[in-house]
Amino acid sequence: MSQQKWWQTAIFYQIYPRSFADGNGDGIGDFKGMTEKLDYLKGLGVDGLWLSPHFPSPNWDCGYDISDYENVAPEYGTLEDFKAFLHAAHARGMRLILDLVLNHTSDEHAWFLESKSSRDNPKADWYVWKDPLPASPISNPRNGGGVPKGRRGPPNNWQSCFDGPAWTYVPERGQYYYHYFMKQQPDLNWRNPEVKAAMWRAARFWLDMGVDGFRLDALGTIYEDPDLTPHTVPMTLAELRHFSDVATTPEEKKLAEKYWFDMYKNQWGGPGLHDLMQELRHVLDEYPGDRMLVGEDDNIDYMGNGDDELHMVFNFPLMRTERLTPDWVRANQTERLRRLDALPARGWGCNTLGNHDCSRVLTRYGDRVHDDQLARLHLALLMTMRGTPFLYNGEEIGMTDLVIPDPVKLRDTMATWYYDSLINKLKVEPALAAQRAGAMSRDKDRTPLQWRDAPNGGFCPEGVTPWLPVNPDYAAGVNVEAQENDPDSLLNFYRRMLKVRKDTSALVEGEYQAVHEKAEDYLAFRRSLPEQQVLVVLNFSGKKLVLDFTDLRSKPARTIYPSGNPAELSLAKINLEPFGILISELL
Ligand code: NOJ
Repeated sequence: MSQQKWWQTAIFYQIYPRSFADGNGDGIGDFKGMTEKLDYLKGLGVDGLWLSPHFPSPNWDCGYDISDYENVAPEYGTLEDFKAFLHAAHARGMRLILDLVLNHTSDEHAWFLESKSSRDNPKADWYVWKDPLPASPISNPRNGGGVPKGRRGPPNNWQSCFDGPAWTYVPERGQYYYHYFMKQQPDLNWRNPEVKAAMWRAARFWLDMGVDGFRLDALGTIYEDPDLTPHTVPMTLAELRHFSDVATTPEEKKLAEKYWFDMYKNQWGGPGLHDLMQELRHVLDEYPGDRMLVGEDDNIDYMGNGDDELHMVFNFPLMRTERLTPDWVRANQTERLRRLDALPARGWGCNTLGNHDCSRVLTRYGDRVHDDQLARLHLALLMTMRGTPFLYNGEEIGMTDLVIPDPVKLRDTMATWYYDSLINKLKVEPALAAQRAGAMSRDKDRTPLQWRDAPNGGFCPEGVTPWLPVNPDYAAGVNVEAQENDPDSLLNFYRRMLKVRKDTSALVEGEYQAVHEKAEDYLAFRRSLPEQQVLVVLNFSGKKLVLDFTDLRSKPARTIYPSGNPAELSLAKINLEPFGILISELL
């Protein structure tokens, strides 16, 4: 295993700082809390940490609207607290990567305040500014025909993916600025070399301090179509969201999907990203210690030749299903690994089943009957797949989505905006609007981590209001303390399974080869190194299975998991319990 880089052998864990651990008892997570929990994370078996944004931010998008790239949000602590956290993580053999948001800043960032102040200030060209569309005798189709005759309007009909039109007018300049996300998140103009220099300076600020790399936020949106080609979807964002919510037939669902694609296809993937990623890669490569870049994108092209752009991109296609099935996983692996292997320097995979933007893994892939068994099966899958795994905080104790039915309590402004649009524009009845907004809000998967069976789940003291409601199921065993003391808990299963991956070199770096490819109830594959051959069999069904793998080898195998089984296993008769897991070494 010594040939591999640290990020290839690591198991990553995403910390959502606002919700992870509250060290000062104000209802918001912070660095003191995170530092205190490092031993817990070490005990879990993770050795890479991805920290969602910890920078100063007005929090329109929960930290993804950064107002200072070289500082720490005061509610999380100080730069000294950050350094203490970093050093404490390193001292425990854990690496730390930060979230680097390149596409946009906060509209309260000093760069934007200066840029918007006039057309001729030194930062006038740091953001994407455009003149209003010239007055036209007829309503102009470029802006969707939505502007009254003779009036000037936005440069085109593009929509922000969070809150209505993608263009916001600034009277000081008499111009519009572009924002792919909220209007509080203006897009930087990456065609301006000064922007690059400033952002690389910010990256160096953290690299100099010793951070081990970055997760690159929303990189596909950095460059848009320079011709500003309008979209052709006959709806606004709110209408499309609503259309998707009420779509029931397969045709409607398909149409909604097509509309989503068509609405934004001109707003991402514009020319220039490869050069930009190569530049950023050069910055990282100036540092010792194999600093790493992982992109919030599934496009393998952004890995360049496999060694000159991003080190990894996420295997998001694996997640794009309502149910993980053997067929689904096999098809995903065939496609992804073929493409990774085709890169000149051979690409490295990266798998995850959840993060702060989507339903929690247990909610999303559970069936409400076998949730606990499925959670274990899905972790076993992640820990045995080829590619670096990423976990999301709270999944190890089986945290589930908590839909917040009261719009006043929502903190995800994309959901509050949708709620307002439903009520005011689409005239949806308030109770239904609240339900729809709660269900689409990302707050449901960002609630505070449940540490104990105590008020507020032990996240913050009794009497303090946490920034988001705590899921009351902490009182029903979904908390760290209760599970630490239960050898059969999900938490202890996570610990065992993470250790299995760590201790089994073929699972980390072995080749993948599907076996029994037609099986519908179970997924079986081999992970192979010259010195170790491992067979993984995962029963995705609620049935007991008796399987024969003598087509692979006639000699017996050694069981790695479950460890309580007899050491020698006959491949002629493998018994798998419903949702059972077998990891064995072929001898
Ligand atoms: C992706 C992040 O994961 C998400 O939380 C955020 O809202 C957008 N990028 C905008 O930064």
